[in-house]
Amino acid sequence: MTLRTVEDTLREAVLELAPGPGEARFSGVAADTLPAAERHPTRHAVAIFRGECPVGFLALDEADPICAYTRPRPSVALRAFFVDARHQEQGIATRAIRRLVPFVLAHHPRAEAIVLTVNVANPVAAGLYRRAGFLDTGRIHVGGPTGPQHVLVRPLADG
Ligand SMILES: CC(C)(COP(=O)(O)OP(=O)(O)OC[C@H]1O[C@@H](n2cnc3c(N)ncnc32)[C@H](O)[C@@H]1OP(=O)(O)O)[C@@H](O)C(=O)NCCC(=O)NCCS
Repeated sequence: MTLRTVEDTLREAVLELAPGPGEARFSGVAADTLPAAERHPTRHAVAIFRGECPVGFLALDEADPICAYTRPRPSVALRAFFVDARHQEQGIATRAIRRLVPFVLAHHPRAEAIVLTVNVANPVAAGLYRRAGFLDTGRIHVGGPTGPQHVLVRPLADG
């Protein structure tokens, strides 16, 4: 399992990726979220690979509004994370989140934490993040169109 910045050569294959139809409300699909990240001044589009096969997508953003939840510590926001429907329930998200810490340390060296929001109606993702060392801040983010979200933070100082 590797995480790679989405370059032009990877783009077409990554655009095909999507979670299940009922899950897209939690993350979007790459056909929307990859072009949005490319247009965005601070978003960094990242694909999850198993060997040479793209199997998931995420975006990192050091200037996302949810970074405010870690102030004064600088953080990077994890957004738009999903595993393609054909590749779910095979441990890919668990391993991708494990790879995320060294990836962020290498590409976003200013960040002292990773911050994300997860829908209160998405216990599978919330459990995954908690097992990966994300701490529930106890705060509820109400900015999204899909209902309230827990705010989780993974400090980077402890590796
Ligand atoms: C959440 C998501 C990323 C998990 O990806 P995945 O690669 O299938 O996850 P894993 O195989 O690593 O499984 C992680 C855990 O979740 C459990 N799990 C995964 N899918 C599940 C499902 N549909 N129902 C119940 N449990 C599930 C696994 O059993 C595993 O539990 P364990 O650690 O106790 O063994 C994926 O379901 C997804 O893309 N969902 C839609 C988008 C989304 O919700 N993104 C998060 C936005 S904050």
